[in-house]
Amino acid sequence: MKFFVDTAEFDAIAELHELGMVDGVTTNPSLIKKAGRDILEVTKQICDLVDGPVSAEVTATDADTMITEGRKLAEIAENIAIKVPLTWDGLKACKVLSGEGNMVNVTLCFSANQALLAAKAGATFISPFIGRMDDIGLDGLELIEDIRTVYDNYGFETEILAASIRSVNHVLDCARIGADVMTAPPAVIKSLVNHPLTDKGLATFLADIEAAKIKIL
Ligand code: G3P
Repeated sequence: MKFFVDTAEFDAIAELHELGMVDGVTTNPSLIKKAGRDILEVTKQICDLVDGPVSAEVTATDADTMITEGRKLAEIAENIAIKVPLTWDGLKACKVLSGEGNMVNVTLCFSANQALLAAKAGATFISPFIGRMDDIGLDGLELIEDIRTVYDNYGFETEILAASIRSVNHVLDCARIGADVMTAPPAVIKSLVNHPLTDKGLATFLADIEAAKIKIL
């Protein structure tokens, strides 16, 4: 499963990138607002660092303006994935922009039928929002399972990009189901390393190193 980082905070991306943990980046208007940066400037900076797809979202709601914005975003770098919302206009924009050879990420997906439409419109990525489904008592992981089944039934190549990931359990469950990509905030990715038995075991080893005066250098 590919790891995308869900943030527009450049330093946080750079830290994970150094460890080889960044297969791509996703941003959205809320993340751009949080970073307090100009969208074109920060997206360019991220694209210069990361080789994989960097999603940048359009701001318009009508297809024609989405297409114009998408073309402008695509000029930033070759690895831009133009993000459009899952509306009829977004699907129209997806069809045109993907037809021109751009990567397109269709976002705000909350049903397998929506995901089916996005695949038929030529989406490179579909972004189902797990956490926001869970927030209202629906089952975000069941949605990922359903999309996996539907795509596999018909051989769609659109990649399932599990988004709105809030916990380490979401990450593992997505990997079990076979999501192609998961995008998570840097803090969630960093917390994947945590395990109390690792901490406990290391504490014992350190105590024994001290007691036996074990030295390598
Ligand atoms: O990738 C989508 C993500 O940014 C949404 O996450 O936590 O705002 O639902 P969240």
